[in-house]
Amino acid sequence: MKYQDIIEKMTIEEKAAFLSGKGEWQTREFERLGIPSIFCSDGPHGIRKQAGAGDHLGLNESLPATCFPTAATVANSWDTELGEELGKTLGKEAMAEGVNVLLGPGLNIKRSPLCGRNFEYFSEDPYLAGKMAASYVRGIQSQGVYACPKHFAVNSQELRRMAMNAVVDERTLREIYLTGFEIAVKEGKAKTIMSAYNEVNGTYANENKHLLTDILRKDWGFDGIVITDWGASNDHALGVAAGSNLEMPNPGLDSARELVAAVESGKISMEDVDARVDELLDAVMTLYVNAQGKSDDFDKAAHHAVARKAATESTILLKNEGNILPLKPGAKVAIIGDFAFVPRYQGAGSSLVNPTKIETVSEILGNYDVQVIGSSRGYSRTGEEDAATRKEALDIAKRADIVLFFFGLNEDSESEGMDRTHMRIPQNQINLLQELGQVNKNLVGIISAGSAIEMPWHHYFKAILHGYLNGQAGASAVMDILTGKVCPSGKLSETVPRRLEDTPAYRYYPSTERTSEYRESVFVGYRYYETAEVPVLYPFGFGLSYTSFEYSDLNVTDEGISFTIKNVGQMEGAEVAQMYVSLPDAKVFRPEKELKGFAKVFLKPGESKKVEIAFDDKTFRYWNVKTNKWEVEGGKYKILLGASSADIRLTGDITRSATTEELPYVPEKMPTYYSGKIQTVEDAEFETLLGRSIPDGKWSGLLTANDAICQMYYAKSGLARFAYKRLTAMKKKADESGKPNLNVLFIYNMPFRAMAKMTGGAVSMDMVDGIVDIVNGKFFGGLGKVISGYFRNSKLNKEYEAKIK
Ligand code: BGC
Repeated sequence: MKYQDIIEKMTIEEKAAFLSGKGEWQTREFERLGIPSIFCSDGPHGIRKQAGAGDHLGLNESLPATCFPTAATVANSWDTELGEELGKTLGKEAMAEGVNVLLGPGLNIKRSPLCGRNFEYFSEDPYLAGKMAASYVRGIQSQGVYACPKHFAVNSQELRRMAMNAVVDERTLREIYLTGFEIAVKEGKAKTIMSAYNEVNGTYANENKHLLTDILRKDWGFDGIVITDWGASNDHALGVAAGSNLEMPNPGLDSARELVAAVESGKISMEDVDARVDELLDAVMTLYVNAQGKSDDFDKAAHHAVARKAATESTILLKNEGNILPLKPGAKVAIIGDFAFVPRYQGAGSSLVNPTKIETVSEILGNYDVQVIGSSRGYSRTGEEDAATRKEALDIAKRADIVLFFFGLNEDSESEGMDRTHMRIPQNQINLLQELGQVNKNLVGIISAGSAIEMPWHHYFKAILHGYLNGQAGASAVMDILTGKVCPSGKLSETVPRRLEDTPAYRYYPSTERTSEYRESVFVGYRYYETAEVPVLYPFGFGLSYTSFEYSDLNVTDEGISFTIKNVGQMEGAEVAQMYVSLPDAKVFRPEKELKGFAKVFLKPGESKKVEIAFDDKTFRYWNVKTNKWEVEGGKYKILLGASSADIRLTGDITRSATTEELPYVPEKMPTYYSGKIQTVEDAEFETLLGRSIPDGKWSGLLTANDAICQMYYAKSGLARFAYKRLTAMKKKADESGKPNLNVLFIYNMPFRAMAKMTGGAVSMDMVDGIVDIVNGKFFGGLGKVISGYFRNSKLNKEYEAKIK
């Protein structure tokens, strides 16, 4: 052990207390032992350091910081150098603000477009998500701050996110939900990782030895610390034994007492505790030293410029009929849409940044050579019809050569803590669009949305630009692209399906039961659409440019591929070349093709470059559930080089020999998986995939400390059912107002045990047991437990505090 000398001096009480946070964001310091405290802050696309009262829902204001485009946006750049630069910039700001651990990036897989947090995640593809995350991590950590990839793992649903059991087969787990984290750890060398709220196959992520020890530490060689998501700890003694270090945010000393008792009773060993303390000491000591002599300032203008560059590189041109874009110099345009006045540039929840400044299209138009003949908000942000504003917009649109329509998802559509129920944009925007289409044929749409939306209205537009959530400098980025100052080079990091019903997890997501069954297996995103031949509106990897690129000379060797890309158009631009791998007639079912490499290439007009993409350990592998190892199936693989998953330009092949003769599946027993048409997988087939029976996820009978508060509609106690009704009414009211109440949402979805885990010691687990008894109809017994628990907790807290002073 590296810190043996300190550990030897520590009492068991000090060790146990050290392994949990002392407040919303900090770890405990121990003066006697020379152990300092470190500070954690969100977030993934800008620092959210709270100077005053802390909360983890983005409710209280934080210090001003640069708001960069969100992960879902930057993933569209497919540029890992950009990711690293962005990470460095984030790291500098974190350092300046006294933040030692940056809680991000988020890289959960976009299993369904409905996940409320998709705007914070990179992709539906683990390879792209992992490469982008690793680049952020490298950048952040180069500044002496630790990055914290999150949420490990299989945390793709917000509904009851703290009380959800992800039921997923081992192969899908490894290939889809873990590969991104593997890349972030192995290639990014992440020094911390955040364990997710949910259970994975019946064990909380934070107590999951399979995830935290066998895979993370042993397989991937992770040598950092595991931090729980805020309130994600269930039994931290089990967490510690499984490989988790720091329980956040502030469970108080009840949790530490449980840890001490667990060692005393032999439930966990002192060696485990010491190992976790040693790892945490290493992080704390290193981060403390790194922060000595740091500057308290950062260059706001320079960081704004990075945000602008990131937004520009990530903007996607989805459509451009008759080359209506770029706008001709002096073009007569109408600016329509509320988003041009009040931009939608980031999401809601713990990632909410207080920006250093915020650009709006309406204010920066003067910097560009366009003739604005009028502008109007056009529609109301709250979704209501507004006839006067609509008329104003139509009058302006009639007089313009081109209408620039700024629209998309409102703030209340996507947020941490809730999932969307549909993929539509507000109807009042569509109504206005239809009318605009009647008065002007030259419509250009500029979308702001953090996740995939249905676009049945796409034919109204001659051109569509998708900006996602592009941060505080997003307006300049959009105008740079519209006017041709910069050539668009973004490509979709997720598929835009035609309709929600076409999405692979449509029937399984979000789960309304205790378990979320990942029946679609590896067929997520394009892996499904391509295999099952479901037509989509815009495929994964798609994005247009103002220039064009020619691919030639594909050469496939044992080590990888090389090819040439030439810019054969008139403008300087960048192309994202994508390498997919496919195995026709595979014996082990697999998606039609899978992304295994990519390169972003910047080229002047007429310029050509030879590009190389190396094969790596992931190129041909699949997880074999029989040998319990990564294996390679023998056969002649196709190497598909394309401008998107659906636009393959060059094809080669390479033969690989098998690493095992043991095949994991009997095809006759899994016809659905072998066809990839997984929209309805029957129980028997899912059980064959899982290799065990499906756990019963139905809520019934008595509620437990681990059930979500919104499950109180099952409660035996009338009082609890009344509380549930009140909470539901509050939630509904907030939803209807157009601004979800994150506090209510959090409480709604949290399990009872979180009362003890997030109240800084005010509530103990004994008291939670009493509360649960009350909910289950044992009012007096429960109340007695709460009262006696309260006095016991106060007394024990005092005694413990005295021991660790
Ligand atoms: C979120 C995390 C976040 C943490 C702290 C949690 O609710 O899931 O992503 O880092 O709060 O704000």
